[in-house]
Amino acid sequence: MEIRILDDHEAASRAAADLFVETSHRALERSGRFTVALAGGSTPKLAYELLASDPRWRAVPWDRTHVFFGDERMVEPDSELSNYRMASEILLDRVPLPKANIHRMRGELEPESAVSACEAELRSVFGPGVPEFDLVLLGMGADGHTASIFPGTRAVAESCLVTSVRPADVTPDVNRLTFCLPLLNNAARVVFLATGADKAQVLAKMRGTDTARHLFPAAMVNARETLLLTDQPI
Ligand code: 6PG
Repeated sequence: MEIRILDDHEAASRAAADLFVETSHRALERSGRFTVALAGGSTPKLAYELLASDPRWRAVPWDRTHVFFGDERMVEPDSELSNYRMASEILLDRVPLPKANIHRMRGELEPESAVSACEAELRSVFGPGVPEFDLVLLGMGADGHTASIFPGTRAVAESCLVTSVRPADVTPDVNRLTFCLPLLNNAARVVFLATGADKAQVLAKMRGTDTARHLFPAAMVNARETLLLTDQPI
């Protein structure tokens, strides 16, 4: 995992937007399309705003882009807790991305049905086998979780592509759907955006001993290229 330390949250968000555009062009040259999984939570909001509004970053080939989500809260798509709603309001509704290319996790369904629906969406774009995303954007919690793979939960060891989880003591307290590590680790490029002082302690531990690293799902992400952008001087 390559860690890049930027001056502040805005600089890290701008770097994430740069990587998003660069990866999209690299993917287009390689395969004629760009497949990306977005992160949820609050950290990526500024990066999404830059991609939607700033001419420097509007060069994404949205008409040939497929957007998935690395995880989702099991709520209606119009819920204020929905990662899909957050990304749509800030970014997806503001760029020329075909609606059919938005592959929402169906959080309103029962867990098993939602997992099956997500696996079907993945197969419809990638075919059989483990999908290889051009880019996966991830956040990280202060406990070292990423997507909705929380420390000490079943999701850490799952060999499947997608699973549903019921994390304990997590806000918001809802069921979640999440990509699993085999899917994340098959990506061409993973970019973590982990800013804020509350992430500093876990980031420092992640750079620590091998044992410490294996306590944190974020440290288990090992794609072909794994970059972590932070504003914390770890
Ligand atoms: C979610 C995210 C989750 C998030 C981290 C960090 O659904 O909340 O997928 O993994 O990335 O919890 O959240 P913040 O960016 O809000 O700190």
